[in-house]
Amino acid sequence: MKLSPRLAMVADLVREGVTVADIGTDHAYLPAYLVSSGKCPAAVGSDLRDGPLMNAAATVALWGVADEVRLLESDGLDALSADDADDFVFAGMGGTLIVELLSRTPWLCDRAKRYIFQPMSHGELVRAFLLQNGFRILDERACFDECRPYVAFSAAYEPEYRPHYRKSYIWMGELPRHLNEAASYYLTKQYIYLKQRADALERAALLPDEVRVIREILPDIEPYIRRKNKGEI
Ligand SMILES: C[S@@+](CC[C@H](N)C(=O)[O-])C[C@H]1O[C@@H](n2cnc3c(N)ncnc32)[C@H](O)[C@@H]1O
Repeated sequence: MKLSPRLAMVADLVREGVTVADIGTDHAYLPAYLVSSGKCPAAVGSDLRDGPLMNAAATVALWGVADEVRLLESDGLDALSADDADDFVFAGMGGTLIVELLSRTPWLCDRAKRYIFQPMSHGELVRAFLLQNGFRILDERACFDECRPYVAFSAAYEPEYRPHYRKSYIWMGELPRHLNEAASYYLTKQYIYLKQRADALERAALLPDEVRVIREILPDIEPYIRRKNKGEI
């Protein structure tokens, strides 16, 4: 069985030998792969809706891992507890939804757990939530899948780890340490978004404090962006 490059990147961040829970599993490709490849002995695949859970049941039956992959209807982590898994994955969802699901879960602050995120949008909101709540981003990767760049990162609860985070950190995460073409493409998109926002706010004479913060952030991202000829991005 072969995963898409995006899901393969997520699977790489899951620890070997742990029970994994995939929140918003849809077809359950990730838990089915992790169990059938032998990386994880057991998994939970949860989803909000019946339709995806039927897809998930078909996948785990097809791959012969129905006994090891428990499927569960749950809104976010609501029907799960800390005992259900060691690593919890949130892939293919928007950052706003991920933050909403994390915010209402009281048992996340457990040092033994690992959380893996692959936000489809607003990764900066997920990174900001993690830093504000005592989590540390441990690893972060980027890849292309059908010509689109995706990022994924893992985090653990480590409240004593309090370095001085620059304001740009939530926009870049740990990608500068693992720079590849996809990371550079992703950072370029972040840069363009922020620059366009600052320029538009400035033209409209709105939110001068936000403009000042963005102007502070842009030079931190600039060294990692993709440049075309003559320094144009
Ligand atoms: C785009 S799919 C992503 C599937 C898979 N995780 C992946 O990355 O390929 C998003 C899935 O999240 C599920 N979902 C949306 N909101 C959810 C919630 N509040 N709790 C659990 N699952 C949710 C949807 O039903 C859908 O199956």
